[in-house]
Amino acid sequence: MRQLIQGRTLSFHADPTETENAFTYHEDGAILVENGKILAIGPYADLRAKYPPAPDLTEIDHRPHLILPGFIDTHMHFPQVQVVASWGAQLLDWLNTYTFPEEARFAQQGHAPAMAEKFLDLLVAHGTTTAVAFCSVHPQSAEALFSAAEARNMAMIAGKVMMDRNAPEAVLDTPQSGYDDSKALIEKWHGRGRQRYAITPRFAITSTPEQMEMAGQLVREHPDCHIQTHLSENLDEIAFTLDLYPEARDYLDIYETYGLLSDKLLLGHSIHLEPREIARMAETGSRAVFCPTSNLFLGSGLFDEAGLRAAGVVSGIATDIGGGTSYSMLQTLNEGYKILQLRGQKLHPFAAFHWATRGNAIALGMEDQIGTLAPGTDADFIVLDARSTPAMALRMERAETLAEELFILQIMGDDRAIRQTYVAGQPMLADA
Ligand code: GUN
Ligand code: ZN
Repeated sequence: MRQLIQGRTLSFHADPTETENAFTYHEDGAILVENGKILAIGPYADLRAKYPPAPDLTEIDHRPHLILPGFIDTHMHFPQVQVVASWGAQLLDWLNTYTFPEEARFAQQGHAPAMAEKFLDLLVAHGTTTAVAFCSVHPQSAEALFSAAEARNMAMIAGKVMMDRNAPEAVLDTPQSGYDDSKALIEKWHGRGRQRYAITPRFAITSTPEQMEMAGQLVREHPDCHIQTHLSENLDEIAFTLDLYPEARDYLDIYETYGLLSDKLLLGHSIHLEPREIARMAETGSRAVFCPTSNLFLGSGLFDEAGLRAAGVVSGIATDIGGGTSYSMLQTLNEGYKILQLRGQKLHPFAAFHWATRGNAIALGMEDQIGTLAPGTDADFIVLDARSTPAMALRMERAETLAEELFILQIMGDDRAIRQTYVAGQPMLADA
């Protein structure tokens, strides 16, 4: 079965911050999808001529909407779907007051599978086709998320958190059980269909040196797994971390000591960094992940996109649900724009949409599979409507360029702008 999908196609093949010629846009474009992959993309007339009507060819017309690669969310917490919008705390209080008790509920029979379906429903409703997710400490939370994602043929990168101190008993593992449970999940899920495992020591505060050692062992044994953790999000967090690891030169040094630094490592937040840390991230290829809505909501600080870029650090951008306040990568780009304004930096709409698609794929080392509309890649894409609310439709009356349309989506758009989400070629939303 093949599908010829018509619309205004936009896909990046380079970073607009680095080059003028960064994307391909077809005003009357089309994508040919076969077996979950993009077979061809180009002007509709060319594809129509090459692929004439046939019994096994379905045609779908999404004009006048934009078709872009699905969004990739490079940092979020699956067990925090019911933590979003918890009042009045900064990071450490927020974890203790709201987050750890909520994550404890994932031990209950049936809770994780129920939440996994809702979580994936929310992702596709917001146009996110791949997420990198922290699960709870309980292996059944990762099991539930992978099972639900596999059933939808959705590419997930996830891992159960390893945490063995400074949290309630109900959300703790031990160095050995954290290792054993992670290992079993890797063996079952890593590389099965579109599922991938991320080794997930939560952060240095909640892992003893013994557990960090076990995390390092997993990394050595499974060098093709991603690794996800948190770095320098909040000043109290940094001070507590350095108390717990008095030998460390700085926060990043803890992760380096246990062998976690590489281009597979995703360091959520990475806000308050020392020059040495930035230099080591660049040298080792370790990724920073910008979480704008979370950084504002928890009062954590202002990410330095341009500074990290100039130093040679690759950054992803992410929602950080449930410290973050929106599942929408559009709203994430909106808040990202405002944070960079406060830094005297500018997030151009081309750079923004590149970041949420191909840029995040590059951060994951997966740009040959996801994040673009290039032939041979997975058919994960979204249909975007820049007139999805009355306010946007009114504003669009005065938009003349593609860049303006994208910026309206970036600043005013949310899940209402997502008309359809295709995962491996399958439409996931009820009504296009
Ligand atoms: N640092 C350690 N755990 C968390 C978490 O769940 N959310 C955020 N925002 N930061 C963290
Ligand atoms: Zn996080």
